[in-house]
Amino acid sequence: MFVKIKGTGSCLPEKVLDNAAISQLVDTNDEWIQSRTGIKSRHIVGKETAVSMAAVAAEKALEDAGITAEEIDLLIVSSVSSEQLLPCTACSVQKELGAVNAAAFDLNAACSGFIVAYQMAAGQIKAGLSKKALLIGVECLSNIVNWKDRGTCILFGDGAGAAVISAEEEGNIEIPSVLHSDGSRGEVLTCKNPTGERKDRSLEGYVAMDGREIYKFAVRQVPAVIDEILEKAEKSVEEIDLFVLHQANRRIVEAIAKRLKQPIEKFPMDMMQNGNMSSASIPVLLDELKQEGKLQPGMKIIVAGFGAGLTWGGMYLEW
Ligand code: UT7
Repeated sequence: MFVKIKGTGSCLPEKVLDNAAISQLVDTNDEWIQSRTGIKSRHIVGKETAVSMAAVAAEKALEDAGITAEEIDLLIVSSVSSEQLLPCTACSVQKELGAVNAAAFDLNAACSGFIVAYQMAAGQIKAGLSKKALLIGVECLSNIVNWKDRGTCILFGDGAGAAVISAEEEGNIEIPSVLHSDGSRGEVLTCKNPTGERKDRSLEGYVAMDGREIYKFAVRQVPAVIDEILEKAEKSVEEIDLFVLHQANRRIVEAIAKRLKQPIEKFPMDMMQNGNMSSASIPVLLDELKQEGKLQPGMKIIVAGFGAGLTWGGMYLEW
């Protein structure tokens, strides 16, 4: 028996920033951005906040799961770019939803955040400490991106995705999943705490990235982690219907598909219109696939992500 995703939801800001608009801000163009990343446009917060987007995505996920906010006993928000440090975003979302019975907290594992949240919650469920968990990945990356750095500002977008998870019944629960981190390589993707650094408008307060190193890391480690998950789940790569990967870059996803020798059709993508939404990417994509009717009961899915830290990991799901 597996922990199941019972419902999904998402929320994207109203405002859309396309590549033409970005080329008004920095020396770039649509052709360069699309050919290197696959991204055409992204959503950027205006009046929305991390809490407001997370609450909307969560309400949709609860409705989709057919459960009330009071039934949630664990609420985890993954974010690196919420406007607020205290109280944690999860507690503010708890208040918005009226999820009065939930233990609520935030975690930061960058773009792997939704995967970490899922594995922490699944572990709590397996241990009998939780029954129904609400997981949210939410990012307002436009707040921490340096809009003068063409190497990073073209990549990111804002949004929120949510999922409700629970076990079918009491009993032995399998969680075929893997997590890794390598703090010794943390300098390739950084952002200093803006509360200190931004006061003097230092660039230290914004996202800084060695894109090539991240690219090489992702293309090497994601196929390796997928192999580890397959072994734990006792499945062959051919048995997997869909690979739902962190939506950083089309070329990264294509390279992973090639290394796994799997058709690209098994790798759904939405970075074209959403950009890289860090920990929101995977839950938003899952929700979009569900809404499009592309997730059918019994489907075998591998979800995997990678990002700053460095962190990477994934899990096997049966829909
Ligand atoms: O969640 C994880 C987040 N991070 C990632 O997913 C990043 C992974 N890395 C990548 O996707 C790629 O490294 C990038 C798309 C970020 C960059 O592509 P690249 O092929 O590695 O380019 P580069 O950084 O090596 O730069 C090549 C050239 C440079 O010019 P010169 O020195 O060759 O004259 C850059 O200055 O492209 C230039 N360049 C740009 N030109 C137009 C860099 N950014 C831009 C831009 N528009 N936006």
